[in-house]
Amino acid sequence: TKIIFKEHDGKEHPVDVENGMTVMEAAIKNMIPGIDADCGGACACATCHVYVDPAWVDKVGKPESMEEDMLDFAFDVRENSRLSCQIKVTDALDGLIVTTPEKQF
Ligand code: FES
Repeated sequence: TKIIFKEHDGKEHPVDVENGMTVMEAAIKNMIPGIDADCGGACACATCHVYVDPAWVDKVGKPESMEEDMLDFAFDVRENSRLSCQIKVTDALDGLIVTTPEKQF
């Protein structure tokens, strides 16, 4: 499954991701700049914050309430903000574009 990470300055990093991994794990594995993931995917740090491309927001879905609460701690949260450790990669997300924020805090 292909996921495209975009940096805030527009630099793109397309990566191939195994289904079942989270978008955060894919970012760490591929050393994508801009994702810290301090808590290792426990939805407890908000440093894996990404912006989902507007065209993908419906497919990726909305954050659950725990994630929503955690997102309050993220920097510059927008309508399409998600915590990437809470997005699981499936075939349905092939071609997904997410943008990393300028900074995590
Ligand atoms: Fe900590 Fe996602 S890695 S909230």
